Amino acid sequence: MGIMKKMKISPSLLSADFSRLGEEVVAVTEAGADFIHCDVMDGDFVPNITFGPMVIKAIRRFSPLPFEAHLMISRPDKYWKEFADAGGDIIGIHIECRVDQNSLITEIHKAGKKVCMVINPPTDVKTIYPYLADVEQVLVMTVNPGFGGQSFMGEVVPKIEQLAERREKEKLSFEISVDGGINSETAKIVKKAGADILIAGSFVFNGRDYKSVIEGLR
Ligand code: DX5
Ligand code: ZN
Repeated sequence: MGIMKKMKISPSLLSADFSRLGEEVVAVTEAGADFIHCDVMDGDFVPNITFGPMVIKAIRRFSPLPFEAHLMISRPDKYWKEFADAGGDIIGIHIECRVDQNSLITEIHKAGKKVCMVINPPTDVKTIYPYLADVEQVLVMTVNPGFGGQSFMGEVVPKIEQLAERREKEKLSFEISVDGGINSETAKIVKKAGADILIAGSFVFNGRDYKSVIEGLR
């Protein structure tokens, strides 16, 4: 186990060709991806705007893989259901949002969906500890969210180690996912730290052969 395990790969559509989004979803699915990562931004929680549930609904039929809706929005409590109804299987909620995280987790589970608790680089890892037993995934951001193609923040790596340690100690089962600046070099670092899932946008979609890029990340 540990360093020998096979990483799961989640291509982030943020760096895909938006004029042929359905085809891009097909291509990464055929290339062996494990999830489809959808970056939803509202221009308030982060300084960028992407797409909403309509787009997820439109591309959902192009892949049988689980879709992650990474909600970088200020009011996930108000909008998560629309993303679930659109075909999101895993709903990513930021710990920094000023909402009642506990009732949000309960509601999402009641709808039969999985919860991913997301934490930004400046946020203390301890803020997420009270939720670890109740979520399926924890997503450690290794860039400040908002844009693809930023550089990996190495100072965040101890957070991944702390989460992996705590998971082991408390016999918890959440998966650790990492998002931001993932390439073949940084993949090794986070894998060693205890990550299970790599989210990669520009590294996958700027590559010519998605299959070899995805294989190279594992
Ligand atoms: C950043 C998004 C990421 C982003 C990753 O705000 O949450 O999913 O697309 O892009 P890369 O892999 O290019 O850093
Ligand atoms: Zn993301």
